[in-house]
Amino acid sequence: MKVGIDKISFAVPKYYVDIAELAEYRGIDPNKWTIGIGQKKMAVPSVECDVIALAANAARNILEKEDRDTIDMVIVASESGVDYSKSMATYLHQLLEIQPFAKSFEIKQACYGATAGLQMACDYVSLRQEKSVLVIATDIAQYGLKTSGEVTQGAGAVAMLVKSNPRILSLETVSVSHTQNAFDFWRPNGHQYPLVDGKYSTQLYQSEFVTVMEQAYRLYPEQITQTKAVVLHLPFSKMGKKALLALQEQEILEEECKRWLKHYQNTIQFNCEVGNIYTGSLYLSLISLLYHDDTLEVGQTIGLFSYGSGAVSELLFAQLEPNYREVVKEYVHSEQLEKREKLTPEEYEVLFDKKITLDSVGNSDVFSFQDEGVYLKQIQAYQRYYEINNISS
Ligand code: HMG
Repeated sequence: MKVGIDKISFAVPKYYVDIAELAEYRGIDPNKWTIGIGQKKMAVPSVECDVIALAANAARNILEKEDRDTIDMVIVASESGVDYSKSMATYLHQLLEIQPFAKSFEIKQACYGATAGLQMACDYVSLRQEKSVLVIATDIAQYGLKTSGEVTQGAGAVAMLVKSNPRILSLETVSVSHTQNAFDFWRPNGHQYPLVDGKYSTQLYQSEFVTVMEQAYRLYPEQITQTKAVVLHLPFSKMGKKALLALQEQEILEEECKRWLKHYQNTIQFNCEVGNIYTGSLYLSLISLLYHDDTLEVGQTIGLFSYGSGAVSELLFAQLEPNYREVVKEYVHSEQLEKREKLTPEEYEVLFDKKITLDSVGNSDVFSFQDEGVYLKQIQAYQRYYEINNISS
């Protein structure tokens, strides 16, 4: 029985800042950020557009009544958690009106989390083919103003519905993973922003990619050579290309790397408009490939390289299902990228510095939201309350 992704979509905040304008404002050659890093725009969240709101808005793009009644498990992957104990999945279970007898929980392993969630979902459905699982990846990536990581910030969520006989991608059971205890990027408890060893992180990413691909070639040479295109975790859009070129330099899989590089431009289209969304980045890149690449054909194999700092990586294989293109276009609302409002660098700094403040008993201000969708309305006694704007209905 085939199991995999039946529907997929994403959500981003309402605001963005132009990367070239921000570079100039910082006194940096814009080419460094637009060519050297490969970004065009950075998604900027406001306080009411938190990780739970983003996750809910991504899932609302794909869920229909029948899904809400049959989803048996809600998995939320994130490294931007809002609570040490209570998972975001419990909020989302309610906001998305999932049937009450579902289980819901959160997964964390930096940018690898959603891949763990996706695989768990596939294993679960393989054993219970009438059930479906909702997997949501949601994060706000922030390093701070004027830091070297600033250009690689972003925010957004990707939601996937995992079912038997999926309409987009069926996942293979074979995969290759690798773990190494490393300090490339980590965020100890209490730190507002992550600690990052930037240069080392880009080197580790590349060496992890090479290690995993070489092992995959040893174990599953047919799968690797038949892989038509590869999508990679994209902390910034140049990163995946650097990894592919590093593999090509090893002089194995040279032909394959050439082929994968031809599809590369299609894998970055959405990511360079949004920035890093941590654990959702790989899946935003997958959406980008499936949405933009007209040369792919049904039945072809796509490789997915997941990387989470700390560090865990994994290569998955998946096959394109017959109606994947139509289904992707039906649920991915790419127009949300064009509808966003541009901030000047000054406005971005003001929004960035605006944090939620709580009074002595844990109450925040009351927020309002002018757009369609879910937003954080208020925190009362340390409890978060959300509201849904149904502007179009
Ligand atoms: P930096 O020091 O500002 O930049 O930091 P740089 O000096 O390395 O330059 C960047 C690129 O621009 C270089 O290209 C330069 O040559 C080029 P490369 O040689 O690497 O191909 N450049 C120019 N190009 C054109 N015109 C110019 C020009 N000047 C220079 N005038 C860094 C960059 C990414 C390190 C920094 O932004 C950072 O620390 N970001 C955060 C960490 C990160 O994203 N790491 C990626 C790997 S780790 C990962 O993916 C996991 C993560 O997603 C977290 C998780 O798992 O949860 C982050």
